[in-house]
Amino acid sequence: MNISIIGTGYVGLVTGALFAEKGHNVLCIENNKKKLEKLQKREVPFYEPGLQELVTKNTQRLKFSEKISEGVKHAQAIFVAVGTPALATGEPDMTYIEHVATEIAHNLKDYRLIIEKSTVPVHTSEKIHAIMKRFSPPDVHFEVASNPEFLREGQALEDAFNPDRIVLGVPSTKAQKILTDVYKDFDAPFIITNVNSAEIIKHAANSFLAMKISYINAVANICELSNANIKEVAEGIGLDKRIGKHFLNAGVGYGGSCFPKDVDAFVNISRDLGYDFKLLEEVQNINRDQKKRLVKKIKKHLWVIKNKVIAIWGLSFKPNTDDMREAPALDIIKELKRSQAKIQIFDPKAIQKAREILELPADESHTAALKETLMEVELYDNQYKATENADCLIILTEWDEFKTLNFEVLKQKMNQHIIIDGRNIYNSQELEKQGFIYESVGR
Ligand code: UDX
Repeated sequence: MNISIIGTGYVGLVTGALFAEKGHNVLCIENNKKKLEKLQKREVPFYEPGLQELVTKNTQRLKFSEKISEGVKHAQAIFVAVGTPALATGEPDMTYIEHVATEIAHNLKDYRLIIEKSTVPVHTSEKIHAIMKRFSPPDVHFEVASNPEFLREGQALEDAFNPDRIVLGVPSTKAQKILTDVYKDFDAPFIITNVNSAEIIKHAANSFLAMKISYINAVANICELSNANIKEVAEGIGLDKRIGKHFLNAGVGYGGSCFPKDVDAFVNISRDLGYDFKLLEEVQNINRDQKKRLVKKIKKHLWVIKNKVIAIWGLSFKPNTDDMREAPALDIIKELKRSQAKIQIFDPKAIQKAREILELPADESHTAALKETLMEVELYDNQYKATENADCLIILTEWDEFKTLNFEVLKQKMNQHIIIDGRNIYNSQELEKQGFIYESVGR
């Protein structure tokens, strides 16, 4: 089939590469010139394991263009995967979706199915439909469907090739047929719903997962107060099939481009619909507190933070990605900077990205806050060099390379042998045996 995808962020580009690999002819539309140039040279502009290889391999079936008009011409199925970043109010910014809908409408000549891939509030399809009706020729038929994406960064290809389910929110049997044809080579359960349900499924799924993390973090805090061990408790509850053992890792809180934004959006959407989703507000509160609790642990051991050297391992919001959006590390860095600590940071992938962001012009508003946080922080390319003269080492991302420690090097480099582990990756007894003061989460 011919397929068009508008927007080449994580979701758009992974989906494009996936469909091309499955044999479809895909045209991806990207309006950012710099990004488009890179993609046309087959350079993936962010780090995602396996994606570069797939984009390089599918040269014939995966093409890129700047023009939405070409996307409309190319295919009957047009996926929209542009960003819906959070506004200061917590609501998602629908500007890009609105723009794309208007542009598609202006270029419509015959039937097209517009498929929402971006995470959008319930009723967005109706809004897209209304705006397209206003700007398209009166006799041209089109429809809007929803096909939410559940892939995780860092394992996007694995998730995209082997989804737990494929949700198709469709307005008609014609739309259903087009979408089942797109996904005909996938071995996964199909959930066919109305469009509103599909839109809700995405926010409800992400909010539920965030709730699971906040729940286990709250239980971890109870474990700390009662001398229990959260790892044992999580195993004990997770083996109940009704609860499930995944997403029960206590830590420094969830981050990333999805959970914080989507929980916020769902709270706002619910409020607009007339329901006060207090449960989710508490999920957000617990997540905020989790980072503050980690800083308290540092203060408990160091007492005075001013002028102390604090080494941080882990800047990305989770391993196998260089994405720092809403990473717990950022809030912790801000807090430590306020207390005038000297921060030395290492991350296997995000350091390079951090340097690029620091070099961007001051008026790049979408990175301005991140840039400000990273200023006056020492960035290191070597894990152990970052611990030179450190009074404390904190672990904020569970990268594999952090999991085994060279105790001799650490002891020789660090000024005080204190490790605060925000991801529970070490064995407490072993660290204490080696002479470290060691604190983790819920143990
Ligand atoms: C998430 C959803 O999992 C995915 O389905 C959706 O499409 C996009 O949002 P992603 O943000 O890529 O994916 O990462 P995920 O692996 O879900 O982790 C999100 C955050 O939760 C990370 O900061 C991670 O460290 C944290 N987390 C996850 C925990 O703290 N504990 C856990 O047990 C699991």
